[in-house]
Amino acid sequence: MACSYFGLDCKVFMVKVSYEQKPFRREVMRTYGANVTPSPSMSTEIGKKILEAHPGTTGSLGCAISEAVEVATSTPGYRYVLGSVLNQVLLHQSVIGLETEAALKKYDIVPDMIIGCAGGGSNLGGLIAPFMREKIKGNANYRIIAVEPASCPSFTRGVYAYDFCDTGMVCPLAKMYTLGSNFIPAPNHAGGLRYHGMSSVLSQLYDDGLMEAVSVPQTEVFEAAERFARVEGILPAPESSHAIKVAIDEALKCKETGEAKNIVFGLTGTGYFDMVAYEKFHDGLMDDYIPTDAELQASFAQLPKV
Ligand SMILES: Cc1ncc(COP(=O)(O)O)c(C=O)c1O
Repeated sequence: MACSYFGLDCKVFMVKVSYEQKPFRREVMRTYGANVTPSPSMSTEIGKKILEAHPGTTGSLGCAISEAVEVATSTPGYRYVLGSVLNQVLLHQSVIGLETEAALKKYDIVPDMIIGCAGGGSNLGGLIAPFMREKIKGNANYRIIAVEPASCPSFTRGVYAYDFCDTGMVCPLAKMYTLGSNFIPAPNHAGGLRYHGMSSVLSQLYDDGLMEAVSVPQTEVFEAAERFARVEGILPAPESSHAIKVAIDEALKCKETGEAKNIVFGLTGTGYFDMVAYEKFHDGLMDDYIPTDAELQASFAQLPKV
């Protein structure tokens, strides 16, 4: 989803696949007065171009960003707001990290690892901010793990390069781990993690070896989500469930080795808007599309030459 605000007049370009998979999220936005358009759409020039290049595509965050920017820059009084990737969004989300740090201190707990899902990287960047500070200063040696979908593996299979932040190539370039701004991920149900690139700050930290990344297939993510819901009574968002999956895996490793470890993970959202995805999982209709090396190479070949 990408969004432009002007007072109460809000136009939202919601990634088409999320528009269809998350009807209740869409209706919440409409209830509060947003005008929601599935992206890519024929209502913008860039949307038309994207649809011409990728007929029938169910879209991506990169496409929605391009359309929102076009509307914002061509409509008097409109502003464009990006909800992830950029430094100010990570800074905003560092409240999560500061609160986590304070809570852990209060209970005298030192984490061994901190795990978060990574789409554009904002929740993870915010969560790890104070812990990374201590790690960089040499005061602690936490394991910090980004978890991404196997269908959109920007960290684990992407390249570290200058790339456009959006599919329509209207936004500035950023140096980041990327699958290429032309890469349109499969319609995975964790819509918030379907972004071709990754925050520049996290990309630098990953490239410097200060954090790790893993990618996980979506059916395993939903198995972990269901397990978590049954044990904790909290129904997690598919995006958050990526972190849960790896937190459970790490806990199971501890069980095997007999080591006691403190595992912190970010629970970013509720799954109540994602019951279509849960329904698919329960009915055995969920698949695990993983891009081939050839698909990724074709996308890398279109990276801007800088
Ligand atoms: C519930 C939820 N968690 C996580 C994310 C991932 O975004 P980011 O990597 O920017 O934190 C999203 C994105 O839309 C989301 O909706």
